[in-house]
Formats: sequence, structure tokens, C-alpha cells
Amino acid sequence: MALSNWDKKAQATFAKIMEVVPEPMQDAMKPQLISMVENKAAGSPVTTDVIERLVREDLPEPQKSVIMGALGLSAETPQPQADEETPQLTWEEDSEGMVEKIMDVIPEMLRGAVKPKLLDFISKQAGPSGTVTEALVSEAIQKMNPPEPYMSQIMKVLAAGSGLDLSKLDDILAQYQGKQEELVNIFHDIQLEYGHLPKAAIGKVSEYLTIPTTTAYRVATSYQAFSLEPKKKHVVKVCNGTACHLNESDTLHKELEKTSPGRFTLEKVRCIGCCGNESMVMVDEECGDSTWAQDKISKF
Ligand code: FES
Repeated sequence: MALSNWDKKAQATFAKIMEVVPEPMQDAMKPQLISMVENKAAGSPVTTDVIERLVREDLPEPQKSVIMGALGLSAETPQPQADEETPQLTWEEDSEGMVEKIMDVIPEMLRGAVKPKLLDFISKQAGPSGTVTEALVSEAIQKMNPPEPYMSQIMKVLAAGSGLDLSKLDDILAQYQGKQEELVNIFHDIQLEYGHLPKAAIGKVSEYLTIPTTTAYRVATSYQAFSLEPKKKHVVKVCNGTACHLNESDTLHKELEKTSPGRFTLEKVRCIGCCGNESMVMVDEECGDSTWAQDKISKF
């Protein structure tokens, strides 16, 4: 495609952009990007300035950050909300190691732009408690949704070797025929067997059903019935049914998130069947109000 109305510097800038577009997508993306740039120039000669404005103003994330990193453009620093607290992150399990493994997949020249972005997604996902678990890193990368082929490579790395005994998984898979529509039922069986969906199991199931690991992860994180991390000894469920929601269950959930993070599994669930005039909580197998729950939790 001729870039007749483009100056030399703009052509070189565009070539740099194409270097970071994954190869399988280049044929489809090149004409699309050229047309976006020329529309942006609105009939004037295309300069580097036009391309940079397009990248900053019109490209979606995470492509925008990746391309800005490749062009050496500095990101605009987001202005924190006046009352927004930036929590200190507490890394649990091997969550910090997972971030490093993800970065190993990203080409070196893009890491400077991608890592802060990922940490921002993790921080948002962690909420006020700032506690980061392996499952939370998996969820954050899903939300960030880096372009292919990086996403698939990252999912493979995350799914690899958890050190868990997966021999029971073969027994579970032997009961199925390998049809893609069996995914949810297989996940239910794994959850029943292991108490959660181990990352390595998700990888193995996606291979068995020949579906992308990203799809399997998306399903695993979409259903409340599935958990990506093993439950702790104590499980605290904050009811978010209508009656409890009207009694500010969201506030209670946020308070509990800050209570000794990581000491118990905290979940938000639908009506737990003991509606009252307060926000209700189930601690293990018992149900009570927030004062009762705080007292119970303090004795864990
Ligand atoms: S709505 Fe919360 S217990 Fe019923």
C-alpha cells in the first residue's frame, strides 16, 4: 500500500508500530491502521505528530500502551481521585513470581509500558485490602486482555506446573468425550475433587477439549461456583441479597476485606436465607449479623 502523502519520518514511525503488532495480525491490521492515520490527517500530509495523536487519542488499551512504549512516548499520569487510597500491595503465595513470569513472555522493549499497566489492573482488582493472590493475578490479566499471541502464551505459562497431584484429573476427563460443551461440567467435577480449579488443571482441560486456554479461564472466572484458589480454613460469606444490600452489605464487605487479609476466604453471595434488618453474614456454617461475625472472625 503506497504511503505517498506520508513524510519519511512518519513512515519510519509507522514501521516501528508494525514491529510490535503480532505477526499473524499484521496483514489485517496494517490497512486498518493506515486508513485510521489518514483519516486523522484529514487530507493533510501524514506526519509523526498525526500518528502519535492517533495512538494517544484513538487506540484502545492495552494496544495503546504497547505502541506508546514502542515509540518511546510517555504515558499520561492518571490523576488519582482526591479520596482514592492507593493501597500497599501485599503479595501472597507466588503472586509476585507470576508477574515476573508474565513479563518474561512480553518482549523486552515493551515491558516498561506493560508492567505498570498490569500492576494498575492488579491494584484495582485487589481493592482496599491490597492483598494479591495467584488467582487475583490471573483475573487481572484476564481483565487487561493483552493482544494475541501474548495472551495465549501468558495463559500457558500460568497454567504450567503447580506441583499439584493431578492424577485424579485423568480419571475425571476419562468420564467425558472431549466435547467443548462439556467444559462447565468438567470444571464442576474438578472443583468438587480439589475444592478449587487449579491453574494446571485449567491448562490441561483446555488442551483436552482443544479450546484456547484464554476461553477456559474466562469460563472459570465467570461462574461464582468456581474458585481459582483453594479455600482457607474459614469461609466468610457476606450476603448481597436485596434485603442485605439495602442494609449496606457493600460497606461491610469492604470493611471485612481490610480485616487481616488472607486469613480467611471472603465471598459475596446471594441471599443466605436469614434475612433481617441488618446486613447478614455466614461464617463457616453459621449465620448472624455483622457484630456477631466480627466477633467470630476475631477468634480465628
Ligand atoms: S438477603 Fe441477605 S440473608 Fe437474605
